[in-house]
This record gives sequence, C-alpha cells and structure tokens, in this order.
Amino acid sequence: MVNLNETKIDNLKGFDWNKYFEYNSSHLIKLDYSNNKELTEKEKELITPSIRAFQIGEGSEGKHLKKVVEKFAKKTNDEEYIKAMDWFVLEENRHSMTLKKYMEVYGIKPIEKNWIDNVFRFLRKLMGLECEVVVLVTAEMIALSYYTALSNATNSKLLKDICSQMLHDELRHVVFQSYTLHKISIIRNKFINKIVREIRKFLMRITLNVVWIKYKDLFEKGNYSKEIFKKDSLEYLKQSIDIEKTGELILK
Ligand SMILES: [Fe+2]
Ligand SMILES: [Fe+2]
Repeated sequence: MVNLNETKIDNLKGFDWNKYFEYNSSHLIKLDYSNNKELTEKEKELITPSIRAFQIGEGSEGKHLKKVVEKFAKKTNDEEYIKAMDWFVLEENRHSMTLKKYMEVYGIKPIEKNWIDNVFRFLRKLMGLECEVVVLVTAEMIALSYYTALSNATNSKLLKDICSQMLHDELRHVVFQSYTLHKISIIRNKFINKIVREIRKFLMRITLNVVWIKYKDLFEKGNYSKEIFKKDSLEYLKQSIDIEKTGELILK
C-alpha cells in the first residue's frame, strides 16, 4: 500500500496548501496519449466498468461543497481555505478529464450515472462541511487502493503514469481532508467526535464491501485479495483518524 507518510508533510498546521496546489498544477507527470495499442481487448474489458465509475466519481462542480466551505471559512476566519478547496475541486476535475481522455484512446464511452456515485453525492449533501469531507475522504482512501490495483492490472505505460499522478494527488487530498476534520473536531465535544469516528468506520466498511463486490475482477488482477483491500482501507482510515485527532501527520 502507499502511505500518507510519503507526503512528508511534517508541519500540517503551517502547511501552505495553496502554494502546494499551485506548484503541483505546473509539475504534472507528462502523459502521452498517442499510443492506442497498449491494452489488449481483454484488458480493456477488465478495466471498463471501474474506470467509467471513477471517471464520473472524480468530476464535480462542487457547488454544495463551496457553500459549506465558505461558511466554515468565515467561522474560522480562514480565507485561504476557500482557495485551497477551489484548487482541490480543480484537481478532481482534472482527474476526471484525464480518465476520460484515456478512455477515448480506447473508445470506452463514459457513463452518465452510476448508483454508487449517486449515493455518495446524496450523502455528501445531507449535512454541512464535515459530512461532505467524511464522504469525500472515504472515496479517496478507496481510490488509493483502486489506482494501485489499476496500475498493476495492465501493462499500459500511459495508464501506469496516470495512476502514479492520481496516487500522488490523492495521498495529499486524504491528508488535506483529514486535517479539515481536525479543525472541525478540535473545537467540539469529545463524545460527538467519538461518534463521528464510529460513523467513519462504518461507512468505510460498507464502501469497501460494495466496491469489492462490483470491481473484484480488477482488484484481483491488480494483486489485491479481499483481505488486503480491507486491511489497507482500514489502515488508511486509521491514519486519517490519527490526523483528525492530533492535527499532525506522524512521520515514522
Ligand atoms: Fe481524484
Ligand atoms: Fe481526491
């Protein structure tokens, strides 16, 4: 598994996310879409259902998110956070576009709707910022395993490059969002924080089971067993909860 430690962010409190996102946007892995012979028909069939699902999952206008972010930024007097979240939405949309372009190379048509995605979008909008972030970060931790499996599943150099970029970005997103949860929980009742952590564990367990059932073939080809997928997902969650609790990324 990849590890949140790889981001080497040792001072979360003073970390300048806007500077990071800006730097990242101009230091992306170069992607060469000219070769359309890297995937066999069988591999194309294997990746199609999940890549379609992640392609729509990654893209979002983030209207509701923006609204709750502005409210939170006002409350905490943190204008920079609004900009950082704008960058974040921009990166997610880049991810969606990147997958779409890759799919185009192999004539994989995007889908308009996916029920898991619909459930996630519904859940995100149920309540305020915390609800949005809890659901988002769950999906991102699942994505860490997914892009690792996707990278392993075929010999496509382009797809491996895309997955490397995704993993690089998503690792930092998980840290970013976990730190947001820290800013929320630090000023709140400890008992409620405990309940939220239990909800996060519950949500992660349901999500990983649904994702496994739907995309088992891809994960297995990408060197995952159900046990490894479960173990890794729960480990990411543990690291995320550690950040939420302490406001720090413990570098081992
Ligand atoms: Fe993403
Ligand atoms: Fe992300």
